Amino acid sequence: MTASELAKFRVPGQMNNLILDHIFRQHSRRGDHVLDPMCSIGTTLHWGAKHGRKVDGLELIPNLVAIGRLRLEQLLPSNRNWQLDNANAFTATLPAAHYDLAVFSPPQIRINRGPYPAGKDQVGNFTYATRAQYWRKIRALVARLGPALRPEARFTTLNVNMRHSDGSLYLFPHDMHQVMTDCKWRLIEEVIVERQHHFNVDRIKYEYLRTYQR
Ligand SMILES: C[S@@+](CC[C@H](N)C(=O)[O-])C[C@H]1O[C@@H](n2cnc3c(N)ncnc32)[C@H](O)[C@@H]1O
Repeated sequence: MTASELAKFRVPGQMNNLILDHIFRQHSRRGDHVLDPMCSIGTTLHWGAKHGRKVDGLELIPNLVAIGRLRLEQLLPSNRNWQLDNANAFTATLPAAHYDLAVFSPPQIRINRGPYPAGKDQVGNFTYATRAQYWRKIRALVARLGPALRPEARFTTLNVNMRHSDGSLYLFPHDMHQVMTDCKWRLIEEVIVERQHHFNVDRIKYEYLRTYQR
């Protein structure tokens, strides 16, 4: 792939530059350490490393890791502010009280109305049986990320409120808010963005960026 093809490469659920711009300017400074525990091809890492943050990303799918590394090497030659590891966020070893900011954008799941049958996320690796089970997993993940963040750190979560053409829903921002509250994070800011177009989904109604502090 050429550099310009890599720059234009898109995957489902990829971060949006408008929101990244807001997160990094509003909630971090140059030199800050930032964690994206589910980083896909490193769109968040790219923004952060380019603007002087030290960014660490974890991604479960090896192909996304390979493409992400290639992209970052091509887009930011000789910039070593980033690290992208092929790791499972549920089991990876994380340093204690280290990060100033977490940028958390969990995989989107598709849940039908009614009894919520078993399903997969947009990349097919995050299986769950029920909506409650999905949120229990997310709660466990947020709880284990907490100790890796410094006491004054911020934690952003991005969730979409989206209706598919067959009427099924993807993520539920109020569930994410409940998880954060359960894990003792306090909401300090909410940004709601309306987006008309999104890769590989019928349409997105809203994206909710929420920022929390302890
Ligand atoms: C919505 S995307 C993240 C977007 C990304 N933060 C960005 O900057 O564009 C969610 C990603 O989480 C990854 N993922 C799912 N389960 C994971 C796990 N247990 N550990 C690490 N990554 C995981 C998926 O493979 C997917 O690439």
